[in-house]
This record gives sequence, structure tokens and C-alpha cells, in this order.
Amino acid sequence: MKKKFETLNENRQAILATNFYNFETLKAILLAAKERNDDIILQLTQSSINYLGLENAVSMAKSGLKYYGVNGYLHLDHGGSIELVESCLKAGFDSVMFDGSELPLEQNIELTRKVVKMAALYDVNVEAELGYIAKLGQSKEKVAYTSAEDAKRFVDATGVNTLAVAIGTAHGFYKEEPKLEFNRLSEIKEAVKIPLVLHGGSGVPVEDVKEAIRRGICKVNVATELKNAFMLTLKQILNDTEEIDLRKVFPPATDAVKALVVGKLEMVTV
Ligand code: 13P
Repeated sequence: MKKKFETLNENRQAILATNFYNFETLKAILLAAKERNDDIILQLTQSSINYLGLENAVSMAKSGLKYYGVNGYLHLDHGGSIELVESCLKAGFDSVMFDGSELPLEQNIELTRKVVKMAALYDVNVEAELGYIAKLGQSKEKVAYTSAEDAKRFVDATGVNTLAVAIGTAHGFYKEEPKLEFNRLSEIKEAVKIPLVLHGGSGVPVEDVKEAIRRGICKVNVATELKNAFMLTLKQILNDTEEIDLRKVFPPATDAVKALVVGKLEMVTV
């Protein structure tokens, strides 16, 4: 995955990273990637790992990639502790994120540096986060964008491979269209040179995502819109029918997620 990022970085291109929650969302993502013949990053958060079971989730992702013939990678999204990162490394993840963005900078540096050392033993990619990108349920009013100076210091001190930056996006749906700070992004890129990551991809206008990629974003994360597409379709079906065969009610929801992901794969193609 480190090699993949090197190539993306050189060519100013990006890869889509989507979260999966169950078999159906995983299948939808893989069918979309297969249809477009695109690479994909499959992401799991701590709560999805808790829900699916670590070993089980890894097996699902890896066998799914093989079964559907997709070239893809498994990534830990927002790892909140060294222990979680370590268990994911042992379980066979291709990439891990350690998210110390809510810690004081020095502590974020110290812990990320530890993760980078640990991941080197597995030759695994490490993503970190700097600045405030509102998580689900957190205030979107607060602003703590990443500065180029901090980013440079952080990357030099930790040796991290990829960096999630706060440039105006937030996790979950937006009440108003987000305003991305493109100049800030270019300054950060100029300072650190490494592949940058855009979190909070749901609801960001397509042209903004493309511009962000041209300016150095190499990984675009999308999660909320997938959950939404799945659940809205499922709710509609359950409202409209007495059907209890889940093999009949899940496929339209899976199809809705697949169509969405096809669109997102197009979005990250520049
Ligand atoms: P959204 O849920 O806003 O798409 O953000 C996804 C994400 O950044 C996962 O880390």
C-alpha cells in the first residue's frame, strides 16, 4: 500500500476509501470497484470491528477481495489506541490510522511515532491526523484547521506515511455546503510532500474533491452516504412489503450502495 500511495502521489491521483459495516455493504463496494476495474480501500472503525469481530472482519474483507477479483487494501479508520492498532497489525491490515488529533500536538507526535515504529515491523502504511475534523456528533462550528508549519513538524518528527488534514470538511452530513481551504491544502502539500487524506467525503461537491486531489489529496474517505443509501432503501422496502426473506429485501439496498460507490469512484478519478 505504501507503493500504491507513492504512485498516486507522483501522479497527483487518489484512491477511494469506503467503510463497510456488514456483508451487504462490503459486497456493494466490491461490485462497484469490480465494475469500474478500480482499486479500493476498505475501512473499518473500532465500532465496526466490535460489531463484526476482528478476525472475522479481516477474513470477510480479504476473501471478498479475492472472490470479486478486486485489488484492494484493508485499513483501520480512526484507531484510537496503540492496542487497537497493534491488534489490527497482527490481524493482517494493510494500513492503520492512529488518530491522536484530539490530543495535544506533542502527545499526538509521541504516540504516532510509536505506531510508525510498530507498523514498520509489518511493513504497513500509517495514517495520522492533525487538526480538528469534527467527528459524528461533534460540533462543526469549532475550527482548528491544519497549518503547514504544524504539518511539517509532525511529519518530520513521526515519519508517518499519509496525513489526514483539516481543511474544512467534517464527518457526517453537512447543513451547508462545506468550504474547502484549497490554498491551505497547497501550502501543506508544499511543506510535507507526502500523500494527504481527505476525511468527511460525504456531501463534498464533486468538483471540490477533484480540485483537492489536484492539490495533493491521495485518499478520499466516504462513509456516511453509504450507510444512508443502504438504510433509506431498506426502510422503503420494509414499509412497502410484508416480505420476510432477507435475501429479497437486502439486494435493492446493496444495489443502491453499489450505484453510490460507482459514482464516488468516478469522483476520485481525475
Ligand atoms: P463521512 O462519513 O463524512 O463520509 O466521512 C468518512 C470518513 O472520513 C471516515 O474516516
